[in-house]
Amino acid sequence: MAEELIPPQKPASSSSSSYTSTSVEKKGLSMEGGTGDGSYARNSVTQAAAIGEVIHKFRAALRSLEFRDESVIRIADLGCSTGPNTLSVVSLVVNCLQENHPLDQVEYQVFFSDLPSNDFNTLFHMLPPLLDTATDQGSTATRAYHAAGVPGSFFRRQFPKESLHVAMSFLSLHWLSKVPEAVEDPNSPAWNKEIVSVDHAPLPVVEAFIEQAKEDLQAFLKSRAEEMVPGGLIFLLFLGREDHDHPEIQWPSKESDPSDPSDPHYLFTTEFLNSWNDLVSEGLIAAETRDAFNLPTFNRSLNEVEQAVNESPYFEIRILEQKVGLWFSSADREKWACDHKAFGKMWNNIARSTLGNLIESRLGPQLTHIFFQRNEANIIKLATEILSPRHYYVLNVVGLLRR
Ligand SMILES: C[S@@+](CC[C@H](N)C(=O)[O-])C[C@H]1O[C@@H](n2cnc3c(N)ncnc32)[C@H](O)[C@@H]1O
Repeated sequence: MAEELIPPQKPASSSSSSYTSTSVEKKGLSMEGGTGDGSYARNSVTQAAAIGEVIHKFRAALRSLEFRDESVIRIADLGCSTGPNTLSVVSLVVNCLQENHPLDQVEYQVFFSDLPSNDFNTLFHMLPPLLDTATDQGSTATRAYHAAGVPGSFFRRQFPKESLHVAMSFLSLHWLSKVPEAVEDPNSPAWNKEIVSVDHAPLPVVEAFIEQAKEDLQAFLKSRAEEMVPGGLIFLLFLGREDHDHPEIQWPSKESDPSDPSDPHYLFTTEFLNSWNDLVSEGLIAAETRDAFNLPTFNRSLNEVEQAVNESPYFEIRILEQKVGLWFSSADREKWACDHKAFGKMWNNIARSTLGNLIESRLGPQLTHIFFQRNEANIIKLATEILSPRHYYVLNVVGLLRR
């Protein structure tokens, strides 16, 4: 096994790590690049299915837009990542807008925006050639838009004032700009000891995350308010929370008992925490390294989203709703139930493609490799529970018109 080739290491302590909460945006958050087995491009079908569930809402909102006297329509995909989802969503938007704004009247420009560590190179290689309207009429193997990459955080300004007509963000806005500082401070009442996310964390921790999520959403809206043209559309799809009053329950499941700590009520975070604990109990990392790690994500309730939007005078709410979905179709559940090993590999690949860089920024490559070996084993142990149809996801679907 590859693991045996790795020389024994000194337990990593948080002080030996170059990671800080402010570095999250700079290097840790991006999805795994390239097109290999562990890449986001090869492990984003769950996200594609979620987008497919709500895309008709986006289409309807796009069809209602009218930009008169414009020669260029500018579209930004914020948190675009790299892979088939990125390209299919953009084509859909441009095709839809062409119904009211045909190519003989306007040109389209698409900005693919993500953190600088995103694998823009792979994305650019995937782009089909630009459509030549003189020779390529009707060709589907071309793109009808000019493309550009914009590296930077969507919590800040990325574009000139009043330059964007459509801004969209798919499955990205549940990522925070950082883990709240208090959560990683052993001297703070909000120190999240022995837990590695906000899920089922104590109240002071949850409150710190709520505050961070609120600040971040306000910063996102403030930046977009400046960048969007009047009449422009923002469409957002991100993980949400059904139960406004229980922010500590980030991942819902039917028939779970939130007061019972042994209830395996949540996905991802259970096996994920078990994997951190394995590294501690095997002496590969110090307990303080685990304690100093937190996932910078928070699933907001619709009330929290509505409140942030209403605090801004610049946007009118067009769509504000939630959509729930099962993680696995019944056919997939049956398939994976017969082969937990294959399921463990697949689910671990998804985890690694989204969280690998973040863990690596804390643990370095060798320990990260071991971490995901443990994670795969932990998924296999919990496979029956993870595959249970009682677990579901909640998506916030938000459409905003710039006044
Ligand atoms: C799960 S991927 C979603 C990718 C793609 N939109 C899709 O639907 O498949 C989340 C993306 O959000 C990006 N992201 C997270 N925080 C960000 C931020 N503050 N600014 C820009 N992009 C961010 C990550 O780098 C990642 O590429």
